[in-house]
Amino acid sequence: MTGKELREKYINFFVSKEHKQISGKSLIPENDPTVLFTTAGMHPLVPYLLGEEHPAGKRLVDFQRCIRTGDIDSVGDATHLTFFEMLGNWSLGDYFKKEALSWSYEFLTSKEWLGINKEKLSVTVFEGEESTGVPPDTEAKEIWKSLGIPEERIYMLPREDNWWGPAGETGPCGPDSEMFIDTGKDACNPACRPGCPCGKYIEIWNDVFMQYNKQKDGSYEKMTRKCVDTGMGLERTVTILIGKKSVYDTEFFIPIIKKIEQASGYTYGTNQDKDISVRIIADHIKTSVFILGDENEIKPSNIGQGYILRRIIRRAIRHGRKLGTSGAFLSIPASAVIEMYKDVYPQLLEKNDFILKELEIEEERFISTLAKGEAEFEKMVPNILKGKDKIIPGRLAFRLYDTYGFPIEITQELAAEHSLAVDRNGFDEAFKKHQELSKMGADKVFKGGLADSSEITTKYHTATHLLHTALRMVLGEHVKQKGSNITSERLRFDFSHELPMTPEEIKKVEDIVNKQIETDHPVTMEVMTLEVAKEQGAIAFFESKYEEKVKVYSVGNFSKEVCGGPHVDRTGMIGKFKITKEQSSSAGVRRIRAEIA
Ligand code: ALA
Repeated sequence: MTGKELREKYINFFVSKEHKQISGKSLIPENDPTVLFTTAGMHPLVPYLLGEEHPAGKRLVDFQRCIRTGDIDSVGDATHLTFFEMLGNWSLGDYFKKEALSWSYEFLTSKEWLGINKEKLSVTVFEGEESTGVPPDTEAKEIWKSLGIPEERIYMLPREDNWWGPAGETGPCGPDSEMFIDTGKDACNPACRPGCPCGKYIEIWNDVFMQYNKQKDGSYEKMTRKCVDTGMGLERTVTILIGKKSVYDTEFFIPIIKKIEQASGYTYGTNQDKDISVRIIADHIKTSVFILGDENEIKPSNIGQGYILRRIIRRAIRHGRKLGTSGAFLSIPASAVIEMYKDVYPQLLEKNDFILKELEIEEERFISTLAKGEAEFEKMVPNILKGKDKIIPGRLAFRLYDTYGFPIEITQELAAEHSLAVDRNGFDEAFKKHQELSKMGADKVFKGGLADSSEITTKYHTATHLLHTALRMVLGEHVKQKGSNITSERLRFDFSHELPMTPEEIKKVEDIVNKQIETDHPVTMEVMTLEVAKEQGAIAFFESKYEEKVKVYSVGNFSKEVCGGPHVDRTGMIGKFKITKEQSSSAGVRRIRAEIA
């Protein structure tokens, strides 16, 4: 079984159960300021799980690239990755537990599909919770029993194990049922069970029964329209099906590891510590390639996604040095990643030069400061060793960051090598003072919240369409959206354009947008295929390999754009529009910030 075969089987199986295949989306969540990356297949579908109608219908299936930086410290073990692909199927107010679990079971065990030995399958279901009043999921348990899973392999577990979501602070969530494969390893202790990290049981699939919408105040609002959200990890499942112990022993990593060996001169498998470094580099380089290759342009920087990218590239370089690399080496394994994935993700090949160039620039930048930073760090160590706390003060950690470009995690790693700790809170405080939007770099964004779909962000969403068309009118048709991000305070819009805008151009764009707001155009939505949408002149900046239906939002006869929504009903609801900043974002890309009052 290969990744290609598993993707195809999964899609075909659910298409045979009347699901429509949709394409996976960008790794950067649209209009969601609280989460940096798409962490699960459900993320791009949040509005539809909450009630928006999906143009492709009520049963969907796809594969989605995901990034989970929260797992970064586990990377290097047999199963944890920062980048992975998730196979998923959804019911949007259509089927529920019985069909979801029966189909999961059929796909896993039927000879026609994966043919996994039923005896190796264990499942978990939610045990219930008094504080929220959610009852034990006896329904799921009974369904599993009726399918032939004996009671001793059905585990009733608490929230920690069997509750999924929301992806951020608010949004759809519910009890879930997870499927595990017993690897045959000995139990680590008599209480060993699915969910135990010893590696005996590997989770491969999760069926979430989305029944609640978590509110900002922490309460759970029951949803009348119940949904199913499932996720199967592609790399893990293939690893198990081909009988390998680790994801690094599979097609997903072997070609990358070969290139790391070539670039470093180290032979994988000869030293345990160095093997972990190889795995970390392999994982991080793949994640970096996918971030740099994303349709939303992200480069290494000190905020937001760019900061995460910088951090993982630099971490890979550090581990490269442990293997004996001295100069730049990342483009060698990066090319292997592009080669491996170019058929499924052709955008990587299109952005090949950009990816390799950005890696090289970041590598050179880091290598030249690393030596100075390490020397500075070593100078600090004797004094700190003399102190009784053995803690590197936050302000020193910040100086390493600010002057030598050391991500805090690297300072922490260096500190750990000397058995020292770092005052992380002190660092965070210093960091916050210095960084606009510093919260985007702090750990809490990994957990983050879901899109604030309140009225105000809806207004910004429609204003973005007006801005997009106005920019094309004033600057020319070469203007293309390169990224967009909305919070309840402002919109940010990146677009292709070489020169800074003149004050006159800015004023013209504002006037056009405000004129359209005053005209109070109705905003209407139609569902059609992407092809028809393009024929009708709708702005659409994504490509699709499938006969996919999309939503097209029209603002009077002023703008027509492919978009998931939601939007205001009439432009008159938006308020006054003002551009507050126009600046460079990267080569050939400008960035606008705008507010509405
Ligand atoms: N959203 C669920 C998960 O990521 C399926 O496990």
